[in-house]
Amino acid sequence: MSKTLTNTFATKLVAWHAVSGRSGLPWQGNRDAYAVWVSEIMLQQTQVATVLERYPRFMKRFPTVKKLATADIDEVLAEWAGLGYYSRARNLHACAKQVMTEFDGKFPRDPILLEQLKGIGRSTAGAIAAFAFHERAPILDANVKRILARLFGVEGAIQDKRVNDRLWDLAVDLLPTKPTDMPVYTQALMDFGATWCTSRKPVCLGSEKKCPFAKDCQANLSDQVLSLPQKTKKTKSPEFNCNMLLMRSGNSILLQKRPSKAIWGGLWSLPEGSWTPRVSSAKDVQISPQELFAATLPEEKFAALAKVCQSIKQAEEIKHVFTHRRLWMQIWQANTPKESAFSNPDLKWVPLTQLGRYGLPQPIKLLLQGLNLVRGDDLKN
Ligand code: ADE
Repeated sequence: MSKTLTNTFATKLVAWHAVSGRSGLPWQGNRDAYAVWVSEIMLQQTQVATVLERYPRFMKRFPTVKKLATADIDEVLAEWAGLGYYSRARNLHACAKQVMTEFDGKFPRDPILLEQLKGIGRSTAGAIAAFAFHERAPILDANVKRILARLFGVEGAIQDKRVNDRLWDLAVDLLPTKPTDMPVYTQALMDFGATWCTSRKPVCLGSEKKCPFAKDCQANLSDQVLSLPQKTKKTKSPEFNCNMLLMRSGNSILLQKRPSKAIWGGLWSLPEGSWTPRVSSAKDVQISPQELFAATLPEEKFAALAKVCQSIKQAEEIKHVFTHRRLWMQIWQANTPKESAFSNPDLKWVPLTQLGRYGLPQPIKLLLQGLNLVRGDDLKN
């Protein structure tokens, strides 16, 4: 390993941040571990621009770990709606409860203890410990892995345990010696990966060859910047079809709470049938009301409801892309004059004006807006 680079990296990176890093973000400079933790979880799979809008709103709604821990999970999911990856919201809620019961309402400063909390991995534990407590704890998210793999010419897939362990060792070796430098150093590392040492357009390959590490970077010196870190081959994600029932009665619609472990777990969505592998478009496929109810509401005695249903028509076909699969939703609109009672407590008639109180999956929100059933404002809580 290059000794000079190891010794000078933190100082050079902090100097880079003073000129080219991001500053003035609302979660920066905050030593309240709760505030740091919420921002780190929100930033995990969401763009900074979106977090800038949603973070202050979340903090206003749940200003302390106690407020979050004692809130109803439905309130938390409703506040999280639109940010995606809802397990983050469920884990936030569970983690807040853990902090209250196991740590007397105070986040621990030791990254090893932080890592034992729900939804906090080693890198997030490092970020919280560094930002809130000035602990000399490393981070290693995908951006940092890329920086280190390039600087030190680390070959092999980053999913490989041996490669991953080596990157963690490097992350530890490079930490600044002064604990008070930890917040700016950690932020600088994140910013450098997000804006300069990017995956496809790193600045070293641009017209201005201005990267402060250009002379030490193994990937740059050996012309391997775009081939490091090594990528694993991606296979195309599988496609599925499913039927969804948009049942109206007057100004209410029928919602079903999704099981907590499923996709969109804990959110309120339209009753849906099972997912079947998509061979071709299911658009224009004829389906009888009985078949549709049997598919979407199998436990209910719907023969009677099928009879009173005034109309049933195919409204839309919408596609939603998840990380590992693509789903085509066939939306069937039906009307019934009477809000029938259900044996399943997860089925509920909800007035359109109250939808904002429920966490709905983003494509369902967009669908309801697109069909002019609700205005954007009605969905704000
Ligand atoms: N991504 C994760 N944490 C971040 C932070 N603190 N600033 C910017 N992007 C981030």
